[in-house]
Amino acid sequence: MSDLPLRGAPIGVFDSGVGGLDVAAELARALPHEALVYIGDTARVPYGTRTAEEVLRFTREAARTLVGMGVKAVVLACNTASAVALEALRGELPVPVLGMVSAGVEAVGEWAAGGGRGAVLVLATPGTVRAEAYQRALAAAHPGRAVHALACPLFVPLVEEGWAARPISALITAEQLRGVEALEAPVGAALLGCTHYPLMRGAIGAGLTSVLGREVPLLDGARAVARQLEALLRARALLAPPGGAPPARALHTTSDPARVAALAAQFWRARVGEPLPPIAPLTLSALAPS
Ligand code: DGL
Repeated sequence: MSDLPLRGAPIGVFDSGVGGLDVAAELARALPHEALVYIGDTARVPYGTRTAEEVLRFTREAARTLVGMGVKAVVLACNTASAVALEALRGELPVPVLGMVSAGVEAVGEWAAGGGRGAVLVLATPGTVRAEAYQRALAAAHPGRAVHALACPLFVPLVEEGWAARPISALITAEQLRGVEALEAPVGAALLGCTHYPLMRGAIGAGLTSVLGREVPLLDGARAVARQLEALLRARALLAPPGGAPPARALHTTSDPARVAALAAQFWRARVGEPLPPIAPLTLSALAPS
């Protein structure tokens, strides 16, 4: 049997909300020949304050829906889903599944290789911090380096509301980062371990500078996950053939598409250099094959 139909199949990208479109945009930029299908479960966001059981159940529904749509690989752009559900889904799905934790660790590796010193501060949702996936993966990859993890539950609602650049975000960020003052090992870099945090980079950067008294780099795994995906597809001879018609980009949301489009249009264009593709409504539980 020819492998051509699979090579032309889309990449499935999943997030609990709108933030994962930033990862999808990076995949579209880095892998311009690949078709993409995105599901944002905006009706049930945030996942970061839910139980691990709920996160696994919802993520499984979305991932199975993507597989039902014929994807050749699934990227869990959602860090909470990656921290909680990646291993289970890898054992269940017939296609490869990538998550954000090892991509974040790779971003830390690059920073360290460039001479980065000091502790890594992981900023993430309560669910991601509780799952300890980042803490374990960073300890394994960078033994001896101090790692702090801080849950920031208020950042996601600010981004989902489109308030990331408002003055209130600076105030809330300062409150959320208060704990950083008391950390023993001096922070050398912050890892944005949540899809939504790169979308409020300005407020987080300013908040950290003010609490630490100096600037620290803000790392995230978007570029690394694109590299990991490319390597995986190349190794399995699944890279889309270049040339031909522009690849399809199908975006779905479980709530109001117009609202999601209004939030995502700007950062999609900034990364991809093209207008945001249309976003279609989707009901997850009705579609997910059991
Ligand atoms: N997508 C989630 C993450 O990256 C953030 C939003 C949520 O809490 O659902 O952790």
